[in-house]
Amino acid sequence: MQDVVVDVGPIAHGGHCVARVDGQVVFVRHTLPGERVRIEITESNKKFLRADAVEVIESAPGRVAPPCAYAGQCGGCDFQHVDPAVQRALLGDVVREQLQRLAGIEWSGEVEAVEPDELGWRTRVTFAVDAMGHAGLRRHRSHRVVPVDRCVIAHPDLPQVLGHEWDAESVEAIVSSTGEKLLVTDASISDAVESAVDGVVAVDGTTRGGTGVLTERVRDKDFRVSGSGFWQVHPAAANTLVDAVLDGARVQPGDVVADLYAGVGLFTAFLADAVGESGTVFSVEADQVAAKDARRNLHDAPQVRLVGATTERALRDGLVGEQVDVVVLDPPRTGAKKVVPAIAGLSPRRVVYVACDPAALARDLASFAALGYRLDGLRAFALFPMTHHVECVAVLLRD
Ligand SMILES: C[S@@+](CC[C@H](N)C(=O)[O-])C[C@H]1O[C@@H](n2cnc3c(N)ncnc32)[C@H](O)[C@@H]1O
Repeated sequence: MQDVVVDVGPIAHGGHCVARVDGQVVFVRHTLPGERVRIEITESNKKFLRADAVEVIESAPGRVAPPCAYAGQCGGCDFQHVDPAVQRALLGDVVREQLQRLAGIEWSGEVEAVEPDELGWRTRVTFAVDAMGHAGLRRHRSHRVVPVDRCVIAHPDLPQVLGHEWDAESVEAIVSSTGEKLLVTDASISDAVESAVDGVVAVDGTTRGGTGVLTERVRDKDFRVSGSGFWQVHPAAANTLVDAVLDGARVQPGDVVADLYAGVGLFTAFLADAVGESGTVFSVEADQVAAKDARRNLHDAPQVRLVGATTERALRDGLVGEQVDVVVLDPPRTGAKKVVPAIAGLSPRRVVYVACDPAALARDLASFAALGYRLDGLRAFALFPMTHHVECVAVLLRD
């Protein structure tokens, strides 16, 4: 591999900074804008190179000693070497750049800190298992497993996966906000391991030692979440996002609301309170297990109509009616490109878009703008400290 020194330019989306080698763009990990570093090229293609900084020749303000012994090897984090406040500033630059470049939107906001804002926040971690049966985490853009004996961003109450031998490819450890613990794995678990872990164990969908279902509590509401079904990972994420969504949606009693990509019904439950019994909330979720959990979670809200279908189908087949007052959407990372025209076709006065990828969000905001929806406000939250991920809540108004 080539060994070269570069002057590092701005941050880019994906946890790396931009530099140039002989005019060619190189995305460099483990560095900061303004640094001079020696790099090792890890990947090359016709358009750009990828590299790791392997020696810091001139450091930039914000560089700190990584709290994790595996920083630089493990692909789970991108910014262990960066002070958390500087991480948020960098993420803000990424959101700004994506909005500007892909949607022509000028955003002057800042990424908001959420406690815990550094370590011990991941309530769900999927560990990979190497050929020797040791659990660890994968290298960046690789299948290789880095065995670890500790993960500093993992929640301290996660069931203990590290330090045991596993006859599996992966093991997901989960702790809920009510303190329940669950392990989900793709292979059978020996009695020795089962008794060594303090918690419930689910194997291949079947369950040993527990129900395989967790209870998550948000404000005064309990939510049932089966197995490794979707739930926000940071312990303060559900509360933070519910607040931001309700604030942006400004729902009135009697309103008709569509909650698209609704999961087990987190936003639906609070939107249902806001519209009251004279209103309606359509809650659209494609995953059958999540939709079943949503049915349990929302059974006491008669104003909720559960739609167990893809958002695409629900909108195409008129399963959320022809006109709604407010749309909330929280799609997967790929965003909602295909459904933006159909959402605009419902003529909501407000759209609240929760996004975990600022690039997909910016692309979709450009489509919304072309259909008469302008950005009224955008908040960004550091819900994944030490990583390049950032959660945004955008509020759009019909012109
Ligand atoms: C980011 S999660 C959001 C869930 C929920 N809003 C929450 O915060 O708990 C996205 C959800 O969309 C669902 N989903 C993925 N593709 C879908 C589609 N095409 N139509 C409907 N739901 C989909 C996933 O199963 C997942 O529950």
